[in-house]
Amino acid sequence: MIVLGIESTCDETACALVRDGKEILSSVIRSQIEDHKPFHGVYPELACRKHIDALIPVIKQAFQEASLSFQDVGLIAAAEGPGLIGALLIGLNAGKALAYSWNLPFVGVNHVEAHLYAAMLSCPNWELPALGLVISGGHTLLVKIEQVGRYKLLATTRDDAVGEAFDKVATLLELPYPGGPHLEKIAKQGDRKRYSFKPGFVKSNPLDFSFSGLKTNVLYAIRGQDGQSGRDLSLEEKRDLAASFQEAALLDLVGKTEKASLQTGCKTVFCGGGVSNNLRLRELFLEHTDLTVYYPEPRLTTDNGAMIAALGYPLYRKEGPHLLNRTPKTRIPFD
Ligand code: KG4
Ligand code: ZN
Repeated sequence: MIVLGIESTCDETACALVRDGKEILSSVIRSQIEDHKPFHGVYPELACRKHIDALIPVIKQAFQEASLSFQDVGLIAAAEGPGLIGALLIGLNAGKALAYSWNLPFVGVNHVEAHLYAAMLSCPNWELPALGLVISGGHTLLVKIEQVGRYKLLATTRDDAVGEAFDKVATLLELPYPGGPHLEKIAKQGDRKRYSFKPGFVKSNPLDFSFSGLKTNVLYAIRGQDGQSGRDLSLEEKRDLAASFQEAALLDLVGKTEKASLQTGCKTVFCGGGVSNNLRLRELFLEHTDLTVYYPEPRLTTDNGAMIAALGYPLYRKEGPHLLNRTPKTRIPFD
């Protein structure tokens, strides 16, 4: 069965055609990064307008690249949340409209679950239960994957998502948006021990994450305790700040995943979302744990339609078609 997957939860308009939940026949991603750069973050109204302009051309391109037509498709899958409400409405309604007019079954897919599934695709024969770690610009969570579609939430963030913290610190360091990859790049030449930054500790659930204090640590290191004194940073200082921040944030992710492994007995981790691109994270998992960690192939780490189409397939086999009255959800509980 060929599944058409549509993604429009945030600032990527994406569409893919995937056979039997595995084989990617085409995957087209139109990123809005350049449009949002002046705002150092995603400007929701602009994101919606750009999705409207891009969606039909992106869907057409996915068919062209796979040399397929709509008659070849057996199922439509669209991300139904979590994400920006206006952005979600566009992709989800397009998916439902195509399913209705082409007389095809439809499924609504959880975008965060799809990030995990993208990592699971890198493992030919996965064994469950396993741990799932989603680390992106909008989400940070740690789950026990009992089955595809059945999860136990172990931890989430109390404030910023880890990618968001990378992006905000990168802005303080005057790096281009989105800052995660740029911060990783300059951190390579930095001294990780120069600043002792501390990620947050959440008493009521020690596995939970909190990155806003860490971000403030960096702000104070640059502008003093009152956050007011402006000064120019040397390249060396920027590198050291980046390296020290990155080390603290990533060690927190690795340490809490290790603790979750001790609690659950799971030794395998599926790790997805944009921050899973970070090579220092991969090194730290190897240096500090004996966990086996699977990451998505590079084009599937950030937002894409292929992960939506891929997860749509097992979801459809398990649940059958979803009704066309599904509405977008800005938040979806993960249990
Ligand atoms: O998964 P994604 O496309 O977006 C959401 O679903 O939110 O991830 C984008 C996030 C951005 O915050 C970006 O800065 C971060 O992933 N990111 C990185 C790296 N590559 C992307 N963060 C740290 N190191 C990287 N190499
Ligand atoms: Zn995402």
